[in-house]
Amino acid sequence: MAAISPPAERNKQPILEVLTTRLKPDQHVLELACGTLQHALHFTANLPNLRWQPTDLSIETVEAGQNLLASGTAKISANLRAPIPLDVLNFPWAVPAFDNVFDSVYAANLLHISPIEVVSGVFKGASLGQARSIFIYGPFFLQGQNTAQSNLDFDASLRGRNPAWGIRQLKYVEQQAQAQGYTLTETVPMPANNLFLEFTLQ
Ligand SMILES: C[S@@+](CC[C@H](N)C(=O)[O-])C[C@H]1O[C@@H](n2cnc3c(N)ncnc32)[C@H](O)[C@@H]1O
Repeated sequence: MAAISPPAERNKQPILEVLTTRLKPDQHVLELACGTLQHALHFTANLPNLRWQPTDLSIETVEAGQNLLASGTAKISANLRAPIPLDVLNFPWAVPAFDNVFDSVYAANLLHISPIEVVSGVFKGASLGQARSIFIYGPFFLQGQNTAQSNLDFDASLRGRNPAWGIRQLKYVEQQAQAQGYTLTETVPMPANNLFLEFTLQ
């Protein structure tokens, strides 16, 4: 994972604006697939009352994040924990800093860059960790609606890189959520044909 992701630099502020009104102070937030930590650094700097635990499947990515925080080059808020390894498909999720339970789960740009099992895995892991809210950001296909050409092209390029990857149908994501007791309570259109989704435990 590159040290700086240009898309993350562009989308971190629009995502923060949507998250701000939805996260209550003192929440323990588990971030899946944190990548370069750009989201975690930006959100924790602006929402100092949250406790934020970033995680990623890739040990290399986690170590790069740990080194970044240790290097002193990034402005780090006290509420940001160092990233730890976590595979969404390895249940239950081990999050020692939060005693394995958390209020919310946040995942950006994960569901289209991982095998389809990760969709149900996000809701299963969140449920086992007793999360009440799940926030998901990324591109999705919506049934019965015209799809932006940029997302069709992106989907084709993802599948070319890895046949298991691809933009998911929102209906399918909703079905997987419901199977674990979560309802899609908000769908917020975001720049560049992305969506911000909020799922709530019923
Ligand atoms: C495109 S990056 C997204 C990074 C960051 N969230 C962002 O939006 O900039 C996708 C990330 O998903 C992670 N990932 C893929 N499969 C995963 C899994 N099964 N469990 C946890 N993370 C996974 C990858 O290691 C990678 O860091």
